[in-house]
Amino acid sequence: MYTLIDGKKVSSDIKLEIAEEVKKFKKETGKVPHLAAVLVGNDGASETYVSHKVKACEQVGFKSTLIRMEESVSEKELLDKVGELNGDKGIDGFIVQLPLPDHISEDKVIEAVDPEKDVDGFNPVNLGKMTIGLPSFVPATPSGIMELIKRYNIETSGKNCVVIGRSNIVGRPVSILLSKKGVDATVTLVHSRTKNLEEIVRRAEIIIAAIGIPEFVKADMVSEGTVIIDVGTTRVKSDKTKSGWKLKGDVDFDNVAPKCSYITPVPGGVGPMTIVSLLQNTLKACKQKY
Ligand code: GUN
Repeated sequence: MYTLIDGKKVSSDIKLEIAEEVKKFKKETGKVPHLAAVLVGNDGASETYVSHKVKACEQVGFKSTLIRMEESVSEKELLDKVGELNGDKGIDGFIVQLPLPDHISEDKVIEAVDPEKDVDGFNPVNLGKMTIGLPSFVPATPSGIMELIKRYNIETSGKNCVVIGRSNIVGRPVSILLSKKGVDATVTLVHSRTKNLEEIVRRAEIIIAAIGIPEFVKADMVSEGTVIIDVGTTRVKSDKTKSGWKLKGDVDFDNVAPKCSYITPVPGGVGPMTIVSLLQNTLKACKQKY
């Protein structure tokens, strides 16, 4: 029998902890953390993610500001907005929701964000610091994954851990966090050019599935007793939900779960943790200022 890793429960516990800290901080300083989010265009998934982030801010007592920009906004206009937010003393941290339209360089935008306000942890300064183990903002999804592993007391030391997918947002940073001192996993990062991928995944004791292909991980790729963290959140059309969409993970859950010791569901696993990690980073940014 497997244990379901309940990201919804853990995230609501952490939100309560953050709300308490915000109250205390407000009493001492008269301030509350303030997160701003820039949303370019009308991408459905991005709209949903950003609205969840804004709602989470309300739940813990943060101030939040949503800045909308047209899909047609120029790269310069967006960079100017980033510069404005960097200089805005009332804002502790901000994010620019990705993906951006093709005519805008995501790299340029990410590099323009002041590392001290980069609560997404995407700026190369923060990624570099994280890589060599210095204090930094850690990207929200990898940070949420590590928190789940910690709160469920999952042993990582010396474990054979396979990360599927090499994105800058999830796969690559989580592979670094899992191999760092104190976590001590033996990490293999596999991707679209990997040879014998299935064989490598089959040897994993811990699988982090972050490839963005629904149900990519099948039962015959998983050994008995494996821990699986499913980061996949592909939106597929559905006539069974109110919104008309449903989220699909990277793991064929129904067939894979019975072989696992621990597994995250989609939704309700990593997703809610990503948002609390962003809140944790924003609280940290705010505290660092005072
Ligand atoms: N797009 C998908 N995930 C993220 C995230 O964590 N932050 C931002 N800014 N954009 C994203």
